Amino acid sequence: MADKKKKHPDKKPRLHARNKHRDRYNFKELIDTCPDLAQFVVKNKFGDESIDFFNADAVKMLNKALLIHYYGLTDWDIPKGYLCPPIPGRADYIHHMADHLKGSNFGRLPEGEKIRCLDIGVGANCVYPIIGVHEYGWSFIGSDIDPVAIDSANSIINSNEMLQGKVECRLQSKSSDIFYGVILRSEPIDLTICNPPFHASRAEATAGTLRKLTNLKKKKVTKADLNFGGKEGELWTDGGEKRFIRRMIKESKKFGKSCCWFSTLVSKQSNLNEIYKLLDELEVEEYKTIQMGQGNKSSRIVTWTFLTHEEEAHWVKERWTKK
Ligand SMILES: C[S@@+](CC[C@H](N)C(=O)[O-])C[C@H]1O[C@@H](n2cnc3c(N)ncnc32)[C@H](O)[C@@H]1O
Repeated sequence: MADKKKKHPDKKPRLHARNKHRDRYNFKELIDTCPDLAQFVVKNKFGDESIDFFNADAVKMLNKALLIHYYGLTDWDIPKGYLCPPIPGRADYIHHMADHLKGSNFGRLPEGEKIRCLDIGVGANCVYPIIGVHEYGWSFIGSDIDPVAIDSANSIINSNEMLQGKVECRLQSKSSDIFYGVILRSEPIDLTICNPPFHASRAEATAGTLRKLTNLKKKKVTKADLNFGGKEGELWTDGGEKRFIRRMIKESKKFGKSCCWFSTLVSKQSNLNEIYKLLDELEVEEYKTIQMGQGNKSSRIVTWTFLTHEEEAHWVKERWTKK
């Protein structure tokens, strides 16, 4: 008799080659690492083990299990309602940036805490520093305007020895600033990363959540149930990602000789032209767009530098190559 079981793709080929989540989640292994996950594991319509992605507690527990199993944590938690980050996509950003830095480093992946990365908007979940410290040994400064997010990130650091001395959180007290008030112009930073709040208003953020839930449930959802988490400041900012990224790029020029590479996620393809125009106006030395994707969702990183090739070579020699 023909096998009627619907096949679910085994691989996620659009993820970066070093991404640890290209295969389907192995729930047995994850439960061995994090037994609390067992209560949330169910069979999905394909007959495979999964969790109910509409259950906020289940999603949070899956994240905890993944971070413990793959990224060396001993514990992880976030305050109620805060963004529960999809780990595979977040890991992709870090791996693509490692490849990008490799291009400046004579083809060698730059590793170790001498690579200092500023994560703008570290969030309560501290996800990028966790992945960057584990995968490449980089050190991080995480900034955020939300004191609850900073407290939460600090408590993740305090409960995981692996992060101690490697990740430092700094509160940005002025929401319209990005670099000012967080780093000094004399403080060398090898890379900046950012997952900006992308919606322009609360209404747009709610509509976005409804769209996401409708796609997931495959039927129209009209009431926003924030199971995916996300406090207001995580999801929206005045002017949306476009204005946020514009501010970041403009301010980055002032730090152009003390930061080697700047970068940001850009979720809306339609914002790219304006971003390129601004980068041209500000006469950056080089910029590049790195495409990323997961399933049907596409995203991209824009990265730029104000260092000339000679300055970049000097930077790499002094900071990354010297013993
Ligand atoms: C989309 S969330 C990203 C959180 C986390 N990095 C992640 O990827 O899951 C955006 C974060 O940026 C923070 N934020 C907003 N404006 C900021 C600013 N001017 N400087 C630093 N962080 C800011 C928000 O509080 C929020 O935590």
